[in-house]
Amino acid sequence: MTRLQIAPSILSADFSRLGLDLQEAETAGSTWVHIDVMDGQFVPNITIGPLIVEAVKRSCNLYRDVHLMVDRPERYIADFVQAGAQNITVHAEATPHLHRAVHLIRELGAQAGVALNPGTPLEMIRPLLPDLDLALIMTVNPGFGGQKFIPAALERIRTLRSWLDEVNPTCHLEVDGGVNLQTVESVVRAGANILVAGSAVFNPGGIARNFKALTEAACA
Ligand code: DX5
Ligand code: ZN
Repeated sequence: MTRLQIAPSILSADFSRLGLDLQEAETAGSTWVHIDVMDGQFVPNITIGPLIVEAVKRSCNLYRDVHLMVDRPERYIADFVQAGAQNITVHAEATPHLHRAVHLIRELGAQAGVALNPGTPLEMIRPLLPDLDLALIMTVNPGFGGQKFIPAALERIRTLRSWLDEVNPTCHLEVDGGVNLQTVESVVRAGANILVAGSAVFNPGGIARNFKALTEAACA
């Protein structure tokens, strides 16, 4: 089993002090940061572009996990690698050329992930599993932070974990959306090892305190 990591999502960070928020997460023990890119087309929200990835790179040593919620992501992969993305995850629903996109990410020197929305059959990424560094099961419909975890995702995590164990056991299984003190243990038990958390890390309570509490609950 690959190592358990909480990946704070900057979507819920205070952008007026992003560097400080990230340094606080790093000091608390975080090694990953999750960066949500939304284009207002694939999802009904617009967030950030390569400039912020570059700023994250300058402000901390966290592993930059970039989640592209954009249509035809292959158009932007080179820009995000150039900006410092270390993992790039594209959505299976966002391009007819998923295989090409995954291989482009790897050719450019980054690690490659594929994400699935809650309503998308797992079968859609089965042929690609041996080629992936990360598979992401969305546990909310993407677009916004602070949404409620969808419990039906647990069965999908279990199934995907068993497929990965057969063909690519070192591939990360990431979950994203509604991960908090109440839900984190169930996703770990189901087989996830990268746990994205936005509001549960950055909302009131203090970043370090929230991060440590989530880590403890994940390892319970
Ligand atoms: C949702 C994003 C998530 C989001 C998670 O579309 O992909 O990464 O930041 O936020 P929480 O943890 O608040 O559900
Ligand atoms: Zn995300």
